[in-house]
Amino acid sequence: MMLRYLICIFALIFLVCCASDTYVEKENHIVIEVIELPTPNLVGNMFLEETLSQRRSRRTFSNVSLALADLSQLLWAAQGITHVSGKRTAPSAGALYPLEIYVVVGSVESLSQGVYHYDPEANSVNKILDGDMRQELLLAAGNQSAVGNAAIDIVITAVYERTTQKYGDRGIRYVVLEAGHVAQNIYLQCESLGFNTVSIGSFNDQEVKNLLNIEEDPLYIMPVGHPE
Ligand SMILES: Cc1cc2nc3c(=O)[nH]c(=O)nc-3n(C[C@H](O)[C@H](O)[C@H](O)COP(=O)(O)O)c2cc1C
Repeated sequence: MMLRYLICIFALIFLVCCASDTYVEKENHIVIEVIELPTPNLVGNMFLEETLSQRRSRRTFSNVSLALADLSQLLWAAQGITHVSGKRTAPSAGALYPLEIYVVVGSVESLSQGVYHYDPEANSVNKILDGDMRQELLLAAGNQSAVGNAAIDIVITAVYERTTQKYGDRGIRYVVLEAGHVAQNIYLQCESLGFNTVSIGSFNDQEVKNLLNIEEDPLYIMPVGHPE
């Protein structure tokens, strides 16, 4: 019975993939579209000390769209690859990289609304869901208005096993600490680009998982957009 069920699921995925230009990526999502991102800038306009002293949680946004280059820059700050060895902008225990980054896109130039998964190796985003999900994410985050009003919501998720298989239970601590590093990178990149953001930890995990159609555990939602 179980085997028949599994065969049906795989056949369904196969048929969906054949019927369109979709494919299944490593996190088991069916990818609707792959969008290459512009190369991120490695030189900015602000000194680190200024970004640190001005960083603040800001929860209001204008309805101006983000540019695709801005999205690229933010994702690179979160988890971009900065070394030939595959090492990234944020530190990771054992360089095991247990975090995944999703973007709920509401308003980005040349990018349709939907949910995207960041691929750091390819510097691309893979579209996994169509449509504007910000209002549903807003409900999952207890109606915190920043989530519904931002141009995008970056969702940081964890695959704990990547780290616990080496470090045991202590790996859970490492993964959560790593999300803090990533969130701070996003805060500082926002400050330097003149965007508002806030790290949101209060939301319903299961509702966020259902909405994004993911197996991983969400740790943070970071709404990002131009200031009002
Ligand atoms: C773990 C964590 C969870 C947080 N969750 C939320 C949240 O759910 N909603 C929110 O508006 N701010 C949230 N914040 C942001 C804090 O409210 C904010 O960092 C604090 O007020 C200090 O302000 P500052 O970030 O501007 O220095 C969270 C911050 C952290 C570190």
